Amino acid sequence: MADLICLDNELKDEALTLCQRFGLTLVGRSLLQQDGFHLCFGFNGLSLQQGGVKPGKKRTEVQVDFSHGASAHRRKFGGGQGQDIAKAIGVTAYKPSVIDATAGLGRDSFVLATLGCQVTAFERQPVVAALLSDGLSRAARDPEIADIIERIQLEHGSSHELLTPAEHEADMVDVVYLDPMFEHDEKNKAQVKKDMQAFRQVVGQDDDADDLLARAYACARCRVVVKRARKARPLADKEPTYSLTGKANRFDVYVKAKVAPLVVE
Ligand SMILES: C[S@@+](CC[C@H](N)C(=O)[O-])C[C@H]1O[C@@H](n2cnc3c(N)ncnc32)[C@H](O)[C@@H]1O
Repeated sequence: MADLICLDNELKDEALTLCQRFGLTLVGRSLLQQDGFHLCFGFNGLSLQQGGVKPGKKRTEVQVDFSHGASAHRRKFGGGQGQDIAKAIGVTAYKPSVIDATAGLGRDSFVLATLGCQVTAFERQPVVAALLSDGLSRAARDPEIADIIERIQLEHGSSHELLTPAEHEADMVDVVYLDPMFEHDEKNKAQVKKDMQAFRQVVGQDDDADDLLARAYACARCRVVVKRARKARPLADKEPTYSLTGKANRFDVYVKAKVAPLVVE
């Protein structure tokens, strides 16, 4: 079970509510003296904070923030429908509904919601789901992006259970998007940004990701899109219909039907 450190006694009741919701254990502040990253709750919300940092040294802190930084920059200057992810999902004048079955810290969900898609985000890791939920709540209070956040629905749980095929075509989601953790390359560790190192420490590797492809394919009406490292093998070793390859990533697209509104005859 993951731990939660409450940084101020005034917040203890709220912290306990978070513990109940995400299956966390409330622990004392002294744990911050131990190495590694710890989930902390303070007046600024939830964050992952680096423990065991000597006085005077900078402590790495990771928080989901859709209003500033990389997410805000990408929203304003990211290239809209010209981005590879938009092309892979099939965003046009028609904005497909999407299940982001490996939501993580919600960066891709936010990009897709910015493009106008309704996004259902599944995240199984309790610390990550709590961080994302907290980030979405803060962002919902920012008038500049509140309408985008309204299009994202987070569900804490595993896609192995949550991805269930709808009985009727009209109830199917248009696109299922998968972005499981890439296999970690130890050689690259030094180049990985501190916040990504923290994230990796919490999540580890998604060794069961291959099983998600068939589930996703059964649930999507139009297509499944899988984000991979540029040179990684395709998920479940299944060749996609086609791929869009960028500088660092590749989007593998498994086509079932044209991404367009459902025509009922
Ligand atoms: C590489 S991260 C996703 C990053 C995300 N696309 C973003 O933009 O922030 C992969 C995430 O998928 C989650 N995950 C992996 N398998 C899952 C499953 N079966 N159900 C729900 N979440 C899963 C992991 O816990 C991890 O947080």
